[in-house]
Formats: sequence, structure tokens, C-alpha cells
Amino acid sequence: MDSKIIDGKLISEEIILEIKKELSSTNVIPGLALILVGNNPASEIYVKMKEKKCAELGYYSIVNRQPETISEAELLSIISGYNNDPKIHGILIQLPLPSHINEMNVLETVDYRKDVDGFHPVNAGRLMIGEKCYMPCTPAGIFELLKRYNVDTSGKNAVVIGRSNIVGKPIANILLQKAKGANCTVTVTHSATQDIASHTRRADIIVAAIGKANFLTGDMIKEGVVIVDVGINRIDDSSAKKGYRVVGDVDYASCYPKASLITPVPGGVGPMTIAMLLKNTLDSALKKIYS
Ligand code: GUN
Repeated sequence: MDSKIIDGKLISEEIILEIKKELSSTNVIPGLALILVGNNPASEIYVKMKEKKCAELGYYSIVNRQPETISEAELLSIISGYNNDPKIHGILIQLPLPSHINEMNVLETVDYRKDVDGFHPVNAGRLMIGEKCYMPCTPAGIFELLKRYNVDTSGKNAVVIGRSNIVGKPIANILLQKAKGANCTVTVTHSATQDIASHTRRADIIVAAIGKANFLTGDMIKEGVVIVDVGINRIDDSSAKKGYRVVGDVDYASCYPKASLITPVPGGVGPMTIAMLLKNTLDSALKKIYS
């Protein structure tokens, strides 16, 4: 593999092997409940991928499918059931939820000790103050990639593009911590930032999580930057079999020549997200985060 490429597929396979090794020395069967509300096609695909990986590792997994019309009270009651089920160590509610359901009420109902997605305010708060917690899976995967590629992060300028609760805010908090693979000076840019390029041009590390195809271009970066591309965007492509192609938030063609390391799309951050979910679920089953 090209030495500039951060190979998320390879690292995710390494993590899966580590999980298998850990599983072989315990009798515990990690259990994961996946709750899917409605028929969002992207959510369907993500949940299927998670289910398949659970099966491959011998996890106990349940996919609980609910119609778009489910009431918030019914959904909360399903979550409470899994909170009290000793076979279940992780609970994941695939987002987004239908607009009549208050997402925060749902996320807060999950027992934070089973919150393997790291979305409960207890885990988000503990992450911010650098305490042991479940980290959201995509930022946890990015952190793992930076560590395993020995990226020199301490004292470096990290610029995050995007401020979502799922990626932007947690990765900013992770990179800020005094820890290996972190200890950065962090800037978070977003839709209201004036002149994002003035920030990215100073960056040693860029995490692009803005959800805009090919947003970061070569003229916005400096030589030697490390680029992590979190984007998964479909763009029309009549030459592709499906009529579209998936690209990241980074314009790969113009950024690749200047970057010292870069994650591809696909095969970069994507595979890491599921690997970290499985790791969080194992950690929960083995009571490594909360006893
Ligand atoms: N929707 C988009 N990303 C995620 C994620 O990481 N977890 C869940 N549960 N839903 C999502």
C-alpha cells in the first residue's frame, strides 16, 4: 500500500483480530441491541453491516425494527427493556430518528453503561473532561488511526471542519486531551466560520466532517498536512454502474500531492466506525469502562 495512505480497512481488521483474541480467553458473549426506526435506506445499510460483523465475531445481536409511526413512549419502553436485559451489553439507536421523536430523550434513556455509541450526556461529559467513557465510534476510530500511524500530534494545530455531536465536537475534545495521539491545539470550524481556508492552511492535521462532497481542496492546505476524511457523499456519475459514486469531504486529487498522510474514501474512517462499536461492546461486556 502507498505509504501516504492511512489504511482504515487494514487497521479495522487488526482491531477485529484483537477482539477475537480477547474473546477467545473469556466465556462472555457480548450482546448488542440495534434499534432501527423507519425505512431510511442509509440506516438500513449501516445496521445490516453492524449485524453482519456481530455475527462474524459470535456476538449476540438483536435488530429491533420499528415503524416510522412508533411513539416516543413506546421507543423509550423498548430501550428500558434492553437496559434491564443482562444478555445485552450495548444499545444502539440508529440515527436519524423521525421528527416527532425527541432524540435527546431517547439517547438519555439508554443506560450510560450500555451506551456503546457514546451519545449519552454522561459519556459526552466524561469525554470532555478526559475521564474513562465510551467514545463515539467514528471519532474513536480516527483517534485509533492517528495513534497506530504514529502521527506526531502533540502541540500540533488540528483543525476540525464540522461541529456535529457525532463527529466534530467529540473529535475536537479527543484531540484536545493530554494523551498520546492527541495534545493538539484544536480549532473547530463550521458553517458560520468566516474563511475556513485561513484556518485549514495553518493546520498540521485536518479532520473533515462537514458532509459536503470534495469541500477541502489543495489550495486550502499546507504541504505535509495529515488529512482525515470523514465524509460519505453520493455524487451523480453516469459512468458508474449504480449511477453514483461515493466521495469524501476532501478533494482527493488536489489534496493527495500535498498531504503527508491521508485517509481514502472508501476504506479510511468508514471501516473503523464498526470496529470501534464492536470494541466498545466487548469493553462493556467485560466491564472495562464501568464496573
Ligand atoms: N447515524 C449516523 N452515524 C451514526 C452513528 O455513528 N451511530 C448511530 N447510532 N447512528 C448514526
